[in-house]
Amino acid sequence: MTAIDRYLAELDAAGVLTGPALARAFRAVPREIFVAAGFRGPGGGWTVPGDPGFLDAVYRNAALVTKVHGGVPVSSSSQPSLMAQMLTALDVAPGHRVLEIGAGTGYNAALLAALGADVTSVEVQEDVAAAAEAALARAGVTGARVRRADGWDGAPGRAPFDRIIGTVGVTGLSAAWWEQLAPDGVVVAPIAHGGLHPVLVVRRTPDRPEARVLCPAGFMVAAGALAARHAGSHPSPVLPPLPAELPTVPPVNLDLEGYHDLWFFAAARDRRVTAAPALLADHLGGLALCEPGSLAAMLPDGRIRPHGPAGERLAGDLAALVAEWRAAGSPPLTAWRVTLAPGGDPARPVWVPAAFATAGG
Ligand SMILES: C[S@@+](CC[C@H](N)C(=O)[O-])C[C@H]1O[C@@H](n2cnc3c(N)ncnc32)[C@H](O)[C@@H]1O
Repeated sequence: MTAIDRYLAELDAAGVLTGPALARAFRAVPREIFVAAGFRGPGGGWTVPGDPGFLDAVYRNAALVTKVHGGVPVSSSSQPSLMAQMLTALDVAPGHRVLEIGAGTGYNAALLAALGADVTSVEVQEDVAAAAEAALARAGVTGARVRRADGWDGAPGRAPFDRIIGTVGVTGLSAAWWEQLAPDGVVVAPIAHGGLHPVLVVRRTPDRPEARVLCPAGFMVAAGALAARHAGSHPSPVLPPLPAELPTVPPVNLDLEGYHDLWFFAAARDRRVTAAPALLADHLGGLALCEPGSLAAMLPDGRIRPHGPAGERLAGDLAALVAEWRAAGSPPLTAWRVTLAPGGDPARPVWVPAAFATAGG
């Protein structure tokens, strides 16, 4: 079995290869060309072409970090199963004009081109944009081009777009994208909520964008006005240092799927909800209720860990949110409908989540 065969089998087993066109695209596009300068390996070292097992490392269902600045990842090839889910939700048809925000390596743009789209991908970092453009050329992709610009502006010269896909975490949809979207267009983008970036699928209603929730995700945060804060923003994710050992209160026995369902619910109900990455092995971090100097974080198994002077009170509030979620019938993340409203920097506004309702009311 080749590395690509294993890759396709892994994506298939994850249930994300939703049709033959998507499977063909993942088979046809050589991911290694898009990470030719190497990527950060699992142990933190850099993996480069020629290393033993390079292709096996490339063809895994894992995000590959391709640029780090000050210890923080600033560009990557996203996790393939997440890309597949987002491409499926984007519902691309041959001939569609697609705007991508965050070219990164160019791999997703190449997949879109393989699906028959005419792709314009915008990338804010000069060197990253140049590398993506070169990779697309080396891979012989003619249906995708890269523009070096801030993604807030979209690509006015190439509008209208049938589809817009964000591959970097944003606070909301840029007003410019909204103007550049075709009347029956769709936007798929990771939009900040509760310290994470769940992926939203956004459509037009006569007067405003309305969204459904596709899946949980954690993306790197966009530069500039796309990541502006607004009145409904949650606190930024809580970063280290935090004590290694925090006391716990008894578990409530959640599974991981329920955990992200609960997380979305809690963040829709309470603006103090954010992520506490330091507490957990889970790379998406832990659901936390946070006030300045204090927090209560919940692990996926349901243990709640209070910290700081208000920690016990916050633990009680978090337990109350769990009870409220259960009393509401434990709505899944995908049950939510989100109404967006203008927010962020008034000079460069973004449509941000403003009202949340579940299908049942
Ligand atoms: C997760 S990577 C994108 C993955 C990419 N689509 C791929 O297939 O490799 C996110 C990218 O978004 C870019 N980015 C961040 N802020 C941006 C902005 N305001 N406008 C355009 N690109 C931005 C980053 O430089 C980074 O390269």
